[in-house]
Amino acid sequence: AVLKVDASPQHARKIPETLFGIFFEEINHAGAGGIWAELVSNRGFEAGGPNTPSSIDPWSIIGNESVISVATDRSSCFSRNIIALRMEVLCGDCQAGGVGIYNPGFWGMNIEDGKNYSLVMYAKSLENTELTVSLTSSDGLQNLSSATIQVAGTSNWTKLEQKLVAKGTNRTSRLQITTNKKGVIWLDQISLMPSDTYKGHGFRKELVSMLLDLKPQFMRFPGGCFVEGQWLRNAFRWRESVGPWEERPGHFGDVWGYWTDDGLGYYEFLQLSEDLGAAPIWVFNNGFSHNEEINATAIAPFDILDSLEFARGSTNSTWGSLRVAMGHPEPFPVKYVTIGNEDCTKKFYHGNYLKFHRAIREAYPDIQIISNCDGSSKPLDHPADIYDFHVYGDSNTLFSMRNKFDSTPRNGTKAFVSEYAVSSNGVGRGTLLASLAEAAFLTGLEKNSDVVQMASYAPLFMNDNDRSWNPAAVVFNSWKQYGSPSYWMQTIFRESSGAVLHPVTINSMYSNSLAASAITWKASNSSFLRVKIVNIGSNPVNLIVSTTGLEALVNMRKSTITILTSKNLSDENSFSKPTNVVPVTRELPNAGEEMFAFLGPYSFTSFDLAL
Ligand code: AHR
Repeated sequence: AVLKVDASPQHARKIPETLFGIFFEEINHAGAGGIWAELVSNRGFEAGGPNTPSSIDPWSIIGNESVISVATDRSSCFSRNIIALRMEVLCGDCQAGGVGIYNPGFWGMNIEDGKNYSLVMYAKSLENTELTVSLTSSDGLQNLSSATIQVAGTSNWTKLEQKLVAKGTNRTSRLQITTNKKGVIWLDQISLMPSDTYKGHGFRKELVSMLLDLKPQFMRFPGGCFVEGQWLRNAFRWRESVGPWEERPGHFGDVWGYWTDDGLGYYEFLQLSEDLGAAPIWVFNNGFSHNEEINATAIAPFDILDSLEFARGSTNSTWGSLRVAMGHPEPFPVKYVTIGNEDCTKKFYHGNYLKFHRAIREAYPDIQIISNCDGSSKPLDHPADIYDFHVYGDSNTLFSMRNKFDSTPRNGTKAFVSEYAVSSNGVGRGTLLASLAEAAFLTGLEKNSDVVQMASYAPLFMNDNDRSWNPAAVVFNSWKQYGSPSYWMQTIFRESSGAVLHPVTINSMYSNSLAASAITWKASNSSFLRVKIVNIGSNPVNLIVSTTGLEALVNMRKSTITILTSKNLSDENSFSKPTNVVPVTRELPNAGEEMFAFLGPYSFTSFDLAL
């Protein structure tokens, strides 16, 4: 059996710089309780709804009703999130440790020895009083840090700030706010942030690092269904998610079933894209939720034009100046927007789409506009630079979809495979099999990258405590994380964006279970040829890999082979075995234009030849 690589320049084609990126959706607590490092859940007490008294979940009360009475009211100093907590302490010198409230964060706060935490909160008390703020174990018994804060008696709200240094590690801690003074105190907008976030921008460092390792060329955000909502009132609204965090109302993401304070808002999404070196792709709601449709006559595109002014506008524009006030004088280079999510079949999609398209094209002619309608089989009936394409299915589906774009018209609208994943039929929590089928699918996208401009796996993140959509590329809890086999598979494609593609032919009795591609690229003054081969079959395959047309000879000493495989197709990674299925790299002693290759059953192999 032979695999031939034609590396001659006349048959080479450049792959778009943007080919592989990420899709960040607020799903599975990816943001709130995830990459956004805020430790307090429901920091403004708004999650229980606007009618009072409302539930304060997940806050809980310390002390019984004979000593403390706690309820929400509408007395906040922030008009867009008017709910505050009223706490009446009925005793003086109540009980050891005092009475009050605690917040367990998102399934426990990760507090680490020696680290600094910044607490900010707002309080109001008519009498002078005293609060103790502490970080404790989940039962309150282990004290990791505490401080006493004096609150001066006044009818105004006061902003209180306190640094807390942890003197122990506890992965499931809680924040306590207690007092021993009789009287009434109101509390609102309580935030606890670790001080060592990525670039000080509020993102969990170790999760950012996993994204950086993918070298994402773009970041699509913030959804997904999160953009639509089951009901429009619960859709993501960028305007409500910018400006001072204390003034953001937050909202209930009703598709994935949880509240978010919107600390990770439109600005922070743009900041994260910038920190990752990824082009932002802003997906906005264009009048549809899962259950409602608004007709174009009732839609004003101004809202979205304002969002673009926020990102790109000059420092003295209305919305650009808010960006400056938030700390980013330079524009965020938004070059792509997507009008809606999976809304093509909605009755008013075309009308609404055209209204947005016209307005954006006129104001920002350089912005690439992405439609929700599939143009892979027939041309779109409306103007668009790119169309969205989503594919979920079992491993057979993804494997066979590697040929999906082979017959797509070459000169039409470009494709963005913005969501792909093996997600059904024994996918477990993300298996080797899923990653092999997806790898084969991606070799097909590379091959068709004259029409496929971009691709991203979905979903990206999952908090292990909220597996609403399974599997995801990166799984985490309050303090640790691991990549699924699909995550590791993507690392083998990270050099493909902007590389040069070379034609590959396979001649083997097992070619039905093989998929392959070849690229060359340059990195720090060296050139490489990478030949990737997926063997999704149960038979080992012996191949001669024969390369013609190379401009430089292979440097055997620096060539490597990387293999992603495991004993069983159903093998996964987990917190206890985070590296059960990961790529393993070693030297490739027989590297050359003509080399013998052994492909193990169920394997994904990358031959990296230094040139
Ligand atoms: O990735 C999960 C969901 O799948 C997305 O929110 C949606 O766009 C798709 O249906």
